[in-house]
Amino acid sequence: MELIDGKEWIAVRKSNLKYYDEVELYYRNPAGRIVLYKPAGMRFTDQALESKPFLGSLYIRPEDKLRALREAQRGFSTDLANRAITSDPEQLALLKRDLTIIVDETLAEPRSGGLQVLPGIVTDIVDAYSDQPTVIKQLARISHTDYTTAIHSINVMALTVGYSYYTNRPVDETRSLGLSALLHDVGKVEVDPAVLTAPRRLTDSEFAEMARHPQTGAEILGEYNGGFTVAREATLHHHLKLDGSGYPAGFEGTISEAGRIIAIIDAYEALTNDDRPYRSAMRPLAALKLLKEDTDAGKYDRQVFSQFVYSLTDFAGGRSGGASSGARIDRPEIDEITGTVDS
Ligand SMILES: [Fe+2]
Ligand SMILES: [Fe+2]
Repeated sequence: MELIDGKEWIAVRKSNLKYYDEVELYYRNPAGRIVLYKPAGMRFTDQALESKPFLGSLYIRPEDKLRALREAQRGFSTDLANRAITSDPEQLALLKRDLTIIVDETLAEPRSGGLQVLPGIVTDIVDAYSDQPTVIKQLARISHTDYTTAIHSINVMALTVGYSYYTNRPVDETRSLGLSALLHDVGKVEVDPAVLTAPRRLTDSEFAEMARHPQTGAEILGEYNGGFTVAREATLHHHLKLDGSGYPAGFEGTISEAGRIIAIIDAYEALTNDDRPYRSAMRPLAALKLLKEDTDAGKYDRQVFSQFVYSLTDFAGGRSGGASSGARIDRPEIDEITGTVDS
């Protein structure tokens, strides 16, 4: 939020304007004053944008935030339903861009109540998956140049929904796993952006700051009165290892199933994407081999790992489409990886 003229305002992105039909938009004029840009109920068309060009930062009032996000979510649902019939890469890229904007705006201010729109988003995606699994699987594959927490979270969510379908979980469980995946890094909002994007290894104190995000995330989700029970546990647990390493350090208790699942899928997604500018993304197979070593060392759940590896492939259970971010993996390679794990 920004304080302008003694009032709080929330900046909105130009690319998301089409979702703000029912919300008043304001802009900051050259004199620095906030002025009405568009009344509620006025639709944004391409012509309107041309005749009323973008004049700088656009804002909404904080009290309109949830309404705007709900509107954005409805717009996304409609687009998802329309686009689900196509596997046109351009349409999919637009869909992912729209989803990224919503998730980004939501995760940016999670304490303002905005997270309430995410269960609806996940429900739409889970429903779309049962009709058109390839569309959702492709969502994790679409490349991007600006890797952010929102994009990472969406990729983990798409992979998790694929995993959940692969293991024949009930729809409500698939939804709560997908929601856990989307929210697992919500605590990063309170980590210094310079630490999040540091193009080098973190110092000890920077790492300590980073390592607080599971706890912070669990606190944020706890503010939603029990609305995110499974996601809250998964968020707290996703950096814990079964051998007692990981963080939060000194954790005592049982790592939840959702936490064990997100831990593996989160690590896989981070390895196969450039989450840190100083290192480059690994090929899926190389990432899986690394995760297998960690699984053999007792860090990850063997069964979850094995199921996840198979969920990435095209062959098992007659399901179609691989969900890996990156290249396909062949069966013999998978057998090599899971063989030792299963034995
Ligand atoms: Fe994390
Ligand atoms: Fe993560």
